[in-house]
Amino acid sequence: MATLTLDHLRVTYPNGVVAVRDFSLEVADGEFVVLVGPSGCGKSTVLRSIAGLEPADSGRILLDGRAVNDLAPGDRDVAMVFQNYALYPHMSVYKNMSLALRLRGMPKPDTDMRVRDAAASLGLSDLLDRKPGELSGGQRQRVALGRAIVREPRVFLFDEPLSNLDARLRGSMRAELKSLHQRLRTTSIYVTHDQEEAMTLGDRVVVMNKGEIQQVGAPLDIYAQPTNRFVAGFVGTPPMNFFEGSVTRDGASAWFVPANPAAGRFPIPASKAHSLANRSPPAITLGLRPQAFQVTAPGGGTGVWAVTVRVVEPLGESMDLICDWFGQPLRARVTADPTIRPGQTIGLLVDEPRALWFNPDEFGATL
Ligand SMILES: Nc1ncnc2c1ncn2[C@@H]1O[C@H](COP(=O)(O)OP(=O)(O)OP(=O)(O)O)[C@@H](O)[C@H]1O
Ligand SMILES: [Mg+2]
Repeated sequence: MATLTLDHLRVTYPNGVVAVRDFSLEVADGEFVVLVGPSGCGKSTVLRSIAGLEPADSGRILLDGRAVNDLAPGDRDVAMVFQNYALYPHMSVYKNMSLALRLRGMPKPDTDMRVRDAAASLGLSDLLDRKPGELSGGQRQRVALGRAIVREPRVFLFDEPLSNLDARLRGSMRAELKSLHQRLRTTSIYVTHDQEEAMTLGDRVVVMNKGEIQQVGAPLDIYAQPTNRFVAGFVGTPPMNFFEGSVTRDGASAWFVPANPAAGRFPIPASKAHSLANRSPPAITLGLRPQAFQVTAPGGGTGVWAVTVRVVEPLGESMDLICDWFGQPLRARVTADPTIRPGQTIGLLVDEPRALWFNPDEFGATL
């Protein structure tokens, strides 16, 4: 096992694309860190640099405090698991799993023990003689994992290993991966564009955008305290609602006035009123998660928004209401209620302390 340090890593491709800029991260021994971000933000490039498959233009990669930038991929003692599994189709499961050890010159009995142990822990013992083409997607994925495990690397690198699986299998493999990590405690970096996967798997989550780190933290801290509008909108399902407007003062209290003033005004909680009331210019963005709404009768006081229901999406215990709030669309996730129908005007009670406030500029820093 190992600690891994990325120190001001920068990676440019030969075509001039700067895929990773100034990326610094410390991964503790035994930690499971997830890199998450939209397609093209540089996640795979970070992994490939750690594995030695992509040279860094600058910055250092340290394993247990020693720079590995100049080591060949095979000498870095890291194992990478890819989205497409990359298994050898003409080799049996056993051969696929044992190959790296045999190439390393490990004696047959030791190789055999490692492969059989890993196969047992992954539920592959009965499949060792099959070829990859004779396996389901989930089984193939387990072989790819097994092949990485037998090497007993210092670091595991996972690049979207579950994205080829259907939703149900993905859920169960996710749980298997988590329990595997709890057993092996190998330092791991896991890449996904699925924020839910990131939240459920990571000890810590690194949110990336455009080759840069936006925020690093424990999943629930990132959810509750996103550092900017990008993170707020990327983490959490369904995505957060954003409302443009401005702040006005009225004596000791401060109010949010939406772009369409017909919608009324919304009290800014006392804890924020002081810091937000004197903004100049007063423009501000309000963020509310769909879960921050609750259905109530329309016209029920200042914390209640009168909205028109456009679409109802039943989800079982809960339902999503896509509503119109004076020309502004919003999504609310509320307790299922079969009496609510499209076209109806309802009240949404807003859980005011859950409101987040952002600068309306392109960086959208949380205020
Ligand atoms: N071999 C390459 N040559 C040139 N540009 C590349 C190469 N590979 C990736 N890029 C570019 O570098 C940027 C980062 O790519 P990368 O594959 O790291 O993104 P990603 O976050 O893994 O995306 P995805 O979620 O789609 O896998 C993108 O703009 C991409 O187009
Ligand atoms: Mg990728």
